Amino acid sequence: MKVFITRKIPQAGLDKLKNAGIEIMEWVERKPLPQEDLIAFCRQCDGLLSAGYNNLDAHFLNECNHLKVIALHSVGYDNVDIAEADRLKIPVGNTPGVLNTATADVAFLLMLAVSRKAFYQHERILKGEWQFFEPTANLGIEISGKTLGIFGLGNIGFEMARRCIGAYQMKVIYHNRNRNLKAEKELNAEWVSFEDLLRRSDVLSVHSNLSDETKGKFDKMAFEKMKSSSIFINTARGAIHNENDLIDALQKKTIWGAGLDVTDPEPAHKNNPLLTMPTVAVLPHIGSATFEARNGMAEMAADNVIAAFNGKKIPFPVNPEIYEQL
Ligand code: DGY
Repeated sequence: MKVFITRKIPQAGLDKLKNAGIEIMEWVERKPLPQEDLIAFCRQCDGLLSAGYNNLDAHFLNECNHLKVIALHSVGYDNVDIAEADRLKIPVGNTPGVLNTATADVAFLLMLAVSRKAFYQHERILKGEWQFFEPTANLGIEISGKTLGIFGLGNIGFEMARRCIGAYQMKVIYHNRNRNLKAEKELNAEWVSFEDLLRRSDVLSVHSNLSDETKGKFDKMAFEKMKSSSIFINTARGAIHNENDLIDALQKKTIWGAGLDVTDPEPAHKNNPLLTMPTVAVLPHIGSATFEARNGMAEMAADNVIAAFNGKKIPFPVNPEIYEQL
């Protein structure tokens, strides 16, 4: 059995695959893998371990409907047409859990960086603009006791809320389709409507999946309902906010600032106005980029491949329903 891997992944995952007797074909070039090459490589293999954001759409899935598994090296699966994978009965696996704390740390880091304009101040030093002390200059916002709003309170949002309560005794409100009773019980989190989330949050942190329902959810209308002192954080997917509307809201001071680990598009262009705004902090999608998280992700992706190649149900399925249909 042979698996195609779309990017260099941590050795822990490769070792697992090799120890299971699986042959590996890897794309190790440091540039995007063209879609037609992806199809050609997958045709020579029995499974795909996809790290990165190749679009695994209906066309790809139908061209490669022989695949025994698609193991994603990510928790997000918005780049896969799951309905089509279901129809073709291809198991798709992801890597939930291991990246929760790493990603929550980045959301927390961005919140603080924005509140004190940290990235901008660093830039000023680099440009030789740190000259004298001005009591009324460089002022930021304090976070203590403020209200944290979470859009999509799952496991990563839970970790972000825990950090904000522990460090700053923040009040937590959230908006989800389904209530998160664990968060309500353990964090005293309050479910609110989307409108109330916008109106009441001092810091609004996005932790939802990207779906038809959440795409562009944070647009001009949404930003206009937020407090002018509020901070918008997105560590989930860039397409959940409308980037032009966000830029406009920041330029017009409709909201105070934004911390982004994800942009739309990615990578962000070096001339993107967000990169030079004082109250904005942008990171290059490093939410899960810790040794601990990435090793765990590589191992979970390998476990998904190994199980499928052994004719077993994969341990971390995104579409478990395919097993019920068999
Ligand atoms: C994920 O796992 O979906 C992350 O965005 C990748 O770092």
